[in-house]
Amino acid sequence: MSQQKRYSMLVGMFLMGMVERVASHDYGNALSKSILFFEGQRSGKLPSNQRMTWRKDSALRDGYEIGVDLVGGYYDAGDNVKFNFPMAFSITMLAWSVLEFGKLMGTDLPHALEAIQWGTDYLLKATSVPGLVFAQIGDPYGDHNCWERPEDMDTRRTPYAVSGQFPGSEVSAEMAAALAASSMVFRPIDIGYSAKLLKRAKLVFDFADKFPGSYNDSLGPWVCPFYCDYSGYQDELIWGAAWLFKAIKVPYYWSYVIENTQKLENIINGGSFAEFGWDSKHAGINVLVSRLLASSNNPDGSPFIANADKFVCSVLPESPTVSVSYSPGGLLFKSGGSNLQHATALSFLLLVYSRYLGEANRVVYCGNVIATPSRLIQVARSQVDYILGSNPLKMSYMVGYGNKFPQRIHHRGSSLPSMDQHPQHIDCQGGSSYFSSNNPNPNLLIGALTGGPDINDSYADSRADFVHSEPTTYINAPLVGVLAHFKSHQSSQKV
Ligand SMILES: *[C@@H]1O[C@H](CO)[C@@H](O)[C@H](O)[C@H]1NC(C)=O
Ligand SMILES: *[C@@H]1O[C@H](CO)[C@@H](O)[C@H](O)[C@H]1NC(C)=O
Repeated sequence: MSQQKRYSMLVGMFLMGMVERVASHDYGNALSKSILFFEGQRSGKLPSNQRMTWRKDSALRDGYEIGVDLVGGYYDAGDNVKFNFPMAFSITMLAWSVLEFGKLMGTDLPHALEAIQWGTDYLLKATSVPGLVFAQIGDPYGDHNCWERPEDMDTRRTPYAVSGQFPGSEVSAEMAAALAASSMVFRPIDIGYSAKLLKRAKLVFDFADKFPGSYNDSLGPWVCPFYCDYSGYQDELIWGAAWLFKAIKVPYYWSYVIENTQKLENIINGGSFAEFGWDSKHAGINVLVSRLLASSNNPDGSPFIANADKFVCSVLPESPTVSVSYSPGGLLFKSGGSNLQHATALSFLLLVYSRYLGEANRVVYCGNVIATPSRLIQVARSQVDYILGSNPLKMSYMVGYGNKFPQRIHHRGSSLPSMDQHPQHIDCQGGSSYFSSNNPNPNLLIGALTGGPDINDSYADSRADFVHSEPTTYINAPLVGVLAHFKSHQSSQKV
């Protein structure tokens, strides 16, 4: 072979390598960042190993006025309220991510565990007074009228609780789910902590079940329209029971799931197969239960398997019964704000269900369309790749990942100068000029996913456009598991 030929062959191989590297993403890097994001949302006294160091201690007196320690937990999004309903869902999803994909996380696993424990330590506090469950900390109107760093916060940190007289089954049962799922995560690591979480999960679930009702009615304008429970609380009760059954295999919880699902089926009329997020748990229940059937007394899986199959057929773009939309660039869309929450949560379910299908040696039939496990994985991967930059704007929707990412996210702490740069207090209205400035945010909230582009694949990158530019914990939490899966399958990807 001539030098010339050998040279051009080498160039060819090099170029092929380039193409492959361009076409696939660094899922491992994205995974580390998706977990780091949770450090930026921490409330309370920050530990010495805090890596996102522009954040400092905040809200150290939460609960002080009523003599209950409610310090800690997570700010939900770009504001400084602790909304425990979506927070608990985020923790459930972090725990589920670790249960399904933790073995693939490598050196990121300890950080994922820290992210869960930051949440569960707080949930233990929020459920420490018998007969009460704290549902939220911080007056949402006062908070939303200000543009303030959490470290400066001087708005009212009112604690809102539900009780036997003023029930809140959705928020309580979601906390029970988070505690039960997390107890499984910690079982091989810290049996004492795991047992504590499990014991609390059972108590909180009993409370949610014994005093049925929605926190909509009990807390009214303090929770609506912020995190109004639109889909009812039956789904959270079933979800909580399913997680408790998964954790301890006690038949009582299985019967609870079966009996209440029948009631729910009558209520929902089959319209919610592709619903899964902080409000509605429907598709999540069906997929979760598909993984439990081996230990249950109805291995045929009725109605869960049939419903999980319908979930797949509601999501796959080629399915005749698809009920979600896709942008021209291929991003999944559902109505409502913060659209990326749907892309991440539904991708998570597709991956988990592909495992069930693989184990059961099954495919899903959507009319004449056959959905194989590998097709489900492919759809999930298309969503992750879009989010990381394979899209018409060639931008990543994860802060700090790739060359082009959102610069003006709707996030108070990220958009105001840090305490290190500007130790002086910035009051409620003092932050307005930073909010309306066209400058990029000074502090990178690394790993944060925003609400994402609009249905035409455009992105304004505007702080005021919170529907698209605000990060939330429940957009990121399911992505942690999804990224762990693709990180471990990185090398087997073809262009
Ligand atoms: C909660 O309030 C919203 C808005 O008013 C309403 O649509 C929803 O049905 C309510 N949910 C429950 C469970 O009452
Ligand atoms: C997307 O584009 C279509 C067609 O040009 C237009 O009618 C629609 O309003 C656009 N939607 C958004 C959210 O920009």
